[in-house]
Amino acid sequence: MKALVLSGGSGTRLRPITFTSAKQLVPLANKPILFYGLEAIADAGITEVAIVVGETHEAIRAAVGDGAALGLKVTYLQQDAPRGLAHAVLIARDFLGDDPFVMYLGDNLVMGGITEFVTRFEDLTASALVLLTPVDEPQHFGVAELDADGNLVRLVEKPKDPPSNLALVGVYLFDASIHEAVRAIEPSWRDELEITDAIQWLLEHGHTVAPHVLTRPWIDTGKWQDLLEANRIVLEALAPNVEGTVDAESRLVGRVSVGPGAEIIRSTIRGPVVIGPGARIVDSYVGPFSSIDADCEIVDSEIENSVLLAGAQITGVRRIDESLIGRRARVTRSDVTPRALRLNLGDQSDVQLPG
Ligand code: G1P
Repeated sequence: MKALVLSGGSGTRLRPITFTSAKQLVPLANKPILFYGLEAIADAGITEVAIVVGETHEAIRAAVGDGAALGLKVTYLQQDAPRGLAHAVLIARDFLGDDPFVMYLGDNLVMGGITEFVTRFEDLTASALVLLTPVDEPQHFGVAELDADGNLVRLVEKPKDPPSNLALVGVYLFDASIHEAVRAIEPSWRDELEITDAIQWLLEHGHTVAPHVLTRPWIDTGKWQDLLEANRIVLEALAPNVEGTVDAESRLVGRVSVGPGAEIIRSTIRGPVVIGPGARIVDSYVGPFSSIDADCEIVDSEIENSVLLAGAQITGVRRIDESLIGRRARVTRSDVTPRALRLNLGDQSDVQLPG
């Protein structure tokens, strides 16, 4: 079994963070979402991985390297433009050979890993296994129609009139029949070769496609509010661990992880909270479901339900809630007159002031 990991997309819905970063490298609990997928692949006993990359290839290559740190042998396949998930299978033909493989979308995360599905596929005589999960807005996904016995009848990509609320999750298992399917289909209205259409082709040509409805949380990073929810789900499983220093006037409550070199001074941290290496929290409160990445500084402030990327600084602000703050961004209080908001915001930033 091999793995094909797709990390080509540009992440327009996650702007402005993705103006300067690949969406697959946006951190959840201080770890890039892509790493959860790669770890799940390694845990399932798969070592040969190809990552399909696009315009953000340098950042992905720099973060993952040859994969040895994760126990993987990673090669990269360059996609010249976002031509669709089935196009990624086309360009991976030589890497995949006739081996069965798991295709994993690098901005997706299935809590609890994928070992169960890999094992199930190995025991089945099916050409494909697809994972499904109920969603509120199925029109934004590939959607499955099942019959009364739970067999897959039809798959349709982003239908205006969805036949069910079961969305295709971005983890698929295939045998070599998918190669004929991806060669047979035509580009969709968005000019992409859709993997959904290729799987529908398999169904129409007498292949068995097994559906599996997920009972565990699935994360598709989507918009920035979804990212905070994804961060919350990942922090639910946080293991407490204190490597940095916590002074006698500080309190850690619940599950808190403090990275090496981090300092907590006269502050209260109420978990689940992860604080990255080298971060400083001084005279502050950090509340549940916050991820504070490496080298952040929070001074004389209160924050919760938020994600701070590396090097962000918050000084004198009460209180920040449900916020996503980018690398080395600064939010500070100033006594300069006139007393006013002074903003230097990147394109497509989003600021919400209390009413
Ligand atoms: C892709 C697939 C879609 C699937 C989704 C899961 O959508 O085309 O069928 O439901 O991933 O994340 P895209 O991210 O290309 O819009």
